[in-house]
Amino acid sequence: MPDTASIAPGAPSLFAFPLLKWYETNGRELPWRGTRDPYRIWVSEVILQQTRIEQGRDYYLRFISQWPTVHALAAATEDEVLRLWQGLGYYSRARHMLTAARQVSALGDFPRTLQGLRSLKGVGAYTAAAIASMAFQLPVATVDGNVYRVLARHYGIHTPINTTAGQKLFAELAQALLPPQRAADFNQAMMDFGATQCTPKSPHCIECPLAESCVALRTDSITLLPIKERKTKIVSRQLTYIYIRCDGHTAIRRRPAGDIWQGLWEPLLLQAYGQLSPLLTQATPLRRGVRHILTHQRLTADFYLLCTDQRPTLPPDFFWIPESTLHNYAVPRLIDMMWECVASITE
Ligand code: ADE
Repeated sequence: MPDTASIAPGAPSLFAFPLLKWYETNGRELPWRGTRDPYRIWVSEVILQQTRIEQGRDYYLRFISQWPTVHALAAATEDEVLRLWQGLGYYSRARHMLTAARQVSALGDFPRTLQGLRSLKGVGAYTAAAIASMAFQLPVATVDGNVYRVLARHYGIHTPINTTAGQKLFAELAQALLPPQRAADFNQAMMDFGATQCTPKSPHCIECPLAESCVALRTDSITLLPIKERKTKIVSRQLTYIYIRCDGHTAIRRRPAGDIWQGLWEPLLLQAYGQLSPLLTQATPLRRGVRHILTHQRLTADFYLLCTDQRPTLPPDFFWIPESTLHNYAVPRLIDMMWECVASITE
């Protein structure tokens, strides 16, 4: 992983100053801009977590008009706050806000340090840094999705943003770039720059004030950055299928809702019907250890054939169909492989 020094953010004139200049003419006019009231800044930041700015603006104005101070909010009931919050989603945010407002009201005012702010219910690193820089002019950088994108592109950083190493690297870099006297403007400039100029799709690189020093633009990796590591674990699954043959017919069922194979057909899968495992004793193996890779699963399947004169009793979702019509039923690729095995021993 590169460290901040090796990325060499350079003099503020290369990044921070052009960014601040851009912000002077391109910064958005938002109702919480220009205030140094920690309460208003806090409310805006909590609302804007997981909420689009257009929707957040209306909620912010209603919230501030109903509870103009943290003490007014502290006196509200949870029902009242949730009612105003209705439609915004993530309702724990509203409940935490009420708890935090009561904490602040009991203290008399907002804490003026990062650590003190972090002790408030629901206030994490990002919100604490936003309040600290915008209300109290503390020189601390905020790091949100916009900041990751802008920095990853500008400095050509390929470290995934959702890893511990990535979070540390981007936080250190944002902090190193922040002009201590202009913390509030710098943080808001980064947000606006990411939201309107260096956008996730189709960023406006042609008229970008930072284009000359942008590594991603120079190396044609704008669309590649930032990199997010896939967190979903790949799981291994063992599957045992039995093809039952009885008087030219076979039994299949349609897979129910719930996974990527929903709606496709398959023969008897023992892992879904453990009670039918005894049937395996009468079956002969067709092929074992068939490997099949899906996006999030590594499958290993065993295929068996059970030839019988009497149809075994199967759950009601199974259909007996003539084997000659098998090709009319959509199946996953793995089952297609099983059909090929069955065909090869039948021919
Ligand atoms: N998103 C989160 N906080 C914001 C802010 N203060 N201004 C604009 N967008 C934001």
